[in-house]
Amino acid sequence: MNRNTMETAFITGASSGIGAAFACQLAARRKNLILLDKQKEQLITLATRLQEQYPVTVKILVADLSNPVDIEKIENYIIMIKNLDILINNAGFGTSGNFIEVNLSKQLDMIHVHIIATMRFCRAALPGMIAHRKGSIINVSSIGAFKPIPGSVTYSSTKAYLVTFSEALQTELVGTGVKVQALCPGFTHTGFHNTPEFGNFNRSRIPKIFWMTAEEVAVKSLKALRRGRAIYIPGFKNRLLVILARIITYKLPFILKWVRKNFDTSRQAFSSLSPQNMHSTRIQHSEDFSCWQETTLKEINDDSSTKTERYLSDKG
Ligand SMILES: NC(=O)c1ccc[n+]([C@@H]2O[C@H](COP(=O)([O-])OP(=O)(O)OC[C@H]3O[C@@H](n4cnc5c(N)ncnc54)[C@H](OP(=O)(O)O)[C@@H]3O)[C@@H](O)[C@H]2O)c1
Repeated sequence: MNRNTMETAFITGASSGIGAAFACQLAARRKNLILLDKQKEQLITLATRLQEQYPVTVKILVADLSNPVDIEKIENYIIMIKNLDILINNAGFGTSGNFIEVNLSKQLDMIHVHIIATMRFCRAALPGMIAHRKGSIINVSSIGAFKPIPGSVTYSSTKAYLVTFSEALQTELVGTGVKVQALCPGFTHTGFHNTPEFGNFNRSRIPKIFWMTAEEVAVKSLKALRRGRAIYIPGFKNRLLVILARIITYKLPFILKWVRKNFDTSRQAFSSLSPQNMHSTRIQHSEDFSCWQETTLKEINDDSSTKTERYLSDKG
């Protein structure tokens, strides 16, 4: 196969974790690669290994996607790529701490890396893909997109943007031959939690069954891409986690309110049936009855006395 005519995959945040796993999977599928990351050394090591292992060409780009100048340069680069078959917007990072405590510049960086870069790279890649009536985009979000996370306010918000953005885009692109996927991994063994921000993060607090490897995530995502799923959560347990989290966040307050309201109503009804209240109810009823009786007897008496008077006057 001629390497110059082979399809190309472009991956951001490719030097480690999920990005590197995608690079391995796609090299094994005979795609030329363009790998982007902040760190040159790790990129060189990965590119060398993949070129030795597979008959593919691997290019590397060093750029910081929190920097608008770098984003624009890469955007112009993407427009020029021939045979771009798959774009994976994977670069990302997390922060830990309340919104007002986390450094503002870190949060602005996150908006650039997660949102601005992804949006602009999609905009750059799509015209070529649509013209060739083929191509795919994977935007790496997170299960954190489905539940607002106190302590990771900007992270969960930016990841939620990627889900909505990808889903809407996929709908617009129906019939063009181009597919878009928002990949929403759960806990994945990568360097993601090894940063100073996650110094207090204790992996063992998360049950082992919820962890996946980066390779599993990449393989499942590429398989789901063939099936054309716009939002993909790898792993049954993660899907269950998302459903539970959504119930707890959005439904539980209403369920509790409903239960409380109905409990109060039935408690009131029940307390009105207590012996003490039954006694007073009975008295009230009998009083009502005596009242009714009184009125009725009076009416009867009045009526009969009227009749008697009328009878007597008629006779007289
Ligand atoms: N691991 C998880 O549990 C998990 C769960 C859900 C979603 N995700 C998402 O999965 C994606 C990949 O993360 P990962 O788990 O594979 O973690 P990772 O190993 O830390 O990979 C993230 C990659 O993005 C790169 N990156 C970060 N900021 C960048 C910037 N400004 N410019 C260019 N590259 C940048 C990192 O480079 P440096 O190493 O040089 O910073 C790193 O190579 C992220 O979008 C993350 O939000 C991860």
